[in-house]
Amino acid sequence: MADSLEDIDRRTHLHPFTSIAEHAAGGPLVMREGRGIRLKDVRGREYLDAMAGLWCVNVGYGREELVAAIAAQARQLAYYHSFFSMTTEPAVRLADRLLRLSPWPMSRVFFGLSGSDANDTQFKLVWLYQGLRGKPAKRKIIARHRGYHGVTVASASASGLPLVHARMGLPIPGFVHVRAPHAYRECEPGIDEAQFASQLAAELDETIRREGPDTVGAFIAEPVMGAGGVLVPPKAYFPAVQEVLRRHDVLFIADEVICGFGRLGRTFGGEVFGIEPDLVTLAKGLTSGYVPLSACLISPRVWAEIEEQAPDIGVFGHGFTYSAHPLAAAAALANLDVLERDRLFERARRIGAHLQERLRGELADKPWVGEVRGLGMIAAVELVADPSTRRPFDPALRVGVRVFRRMLADGIIVRALGDSIALCPPYVIEVSEVDEIVGALARAIDGIGAEIRAAQVSAAG
Ligand SMILES: Cc1ncc(COP(=O)(O)O)c(C=O)c1O
Repeated sequence: MADSLEDIDRRTHLHPFTSIAEHAAGGPLVMREGRGIRLKDVRGREYLDAMAGLWCVNVGYGREELVAAIAAQARQLAYYHSFFSMTTEPAVRLADRLLRLSPWPMSRVFFGLSGSDANDTQFKLVWLYQGLRGKPAKRKIIARHRGYHGVTVASASASGLPLVHARMGLPIPGFVHVRAPHAYRECEPGIDEAQFASQLAAELDETIRREGPDTVGAFIAEPVMGAGGVLVPPKAYFPAVQEVLRRHDVLFIADEVICGFGRLGRTFGGEVFGIEPDLVTLAKGLTSGYVPLSACLISPRVWAEIEEQAPDIGVFGHGFTYSAHPLAAAAALANLDVLERDRLFERARRIGAHLQERLRGELADKPWVGEVRGLGMIAAVELVADPSTRRPFDPALRVGVRVFRRMLADGIIVRALGDSIALCPPYVIEVSEVDEIVGALARAIDGIGAEIRAAQVSAAG
């Protein structure tokens, strides 16, 4: 008998963010098709994708408009590059459209392929800019613990997750991490959210002073932190942070890879928090994941310096073979058309409010539920051994993974970020489907909780 797809995969494919040993024993799950928020695997099993792939398929799967745009572009001109002043029509139109879409005045767009490479580009732009203004030592990048900015050498160094540093000798020098605005874990009793925000801003200030303001080039942050646990900052956090950055002449890179394109109910997440970025990173929702594409938006402040010294700079020595790929640009334009025509940002706001309310209503008072958090169409439920003391579960119990697996067996895909269960559905999800997910999550938490209690009782007896 011929090898199954699963057999071949286990023999051949090194999977990203996958346990090598567990994959060899139990992987993979091979998906075959998708429509709206539903996926079907090669064995015909159906799933409701409550994670929009990897926080990206905002318009849902199988959108004919995107498929047609990609196919038409492929037929006409599947590839041409953007080096040496070359370009293609979709790339021209997309750059213009992104600048018009941006709530902040922006001067130029640089295209890449992933959130990771876009953040690397941002760091290079910071170094270029600071050098051009006669401050070449202003190179350090300040990021947050629990932040996720990607996995290339520089973006992984900015990420604040031990998993992406371990065994790789990362972060490289020049990347400094400060505390995340994670009130549930980091805010001391008796301190309110506004005071917590001031504390974090003061710590940032101390960090910049300790490192030397003349050596700090930029600060990078996600509006709502995604992979670090879906952490929503206190309202006062970003205004206080920005005040510190301005004082020390440090640029702000807004990593909008998850929050951009409506996830929080506005065009960009930074709008919700009053962020005024110098550089903006976009990916994922730019094409709803149909074709890889990222974009760096460059503010007038940064661009003016580059433009002024353009004759001296000569060639901008950076770019990818696939920068501004016409298939990706065509997909992005069609994606933006769908988002606008179907008013999906508004829909994300409306259904997101229902998602947040339902999760809190159904789950917040359950045993094992420490915190329900989120904003708009992104949320997480943190499971703990004891909600009264916030004591986490023993990691060896792998509570998050068990809930994920139980949900998967129920036909619903969520994501375990440690013991926080994340939800980030496509915007086309219906209210009844939100209720279905929340109900299944409640049952999964009850089920795993009962298993743990039974194991404790039998160990004690
Ligand atoms: C906020 C953020 N930035 C950057 C990235 C990296 O993007 P990519 O996986 O496309 O390199 C991600 C991916 O999840 C992300 O969530």
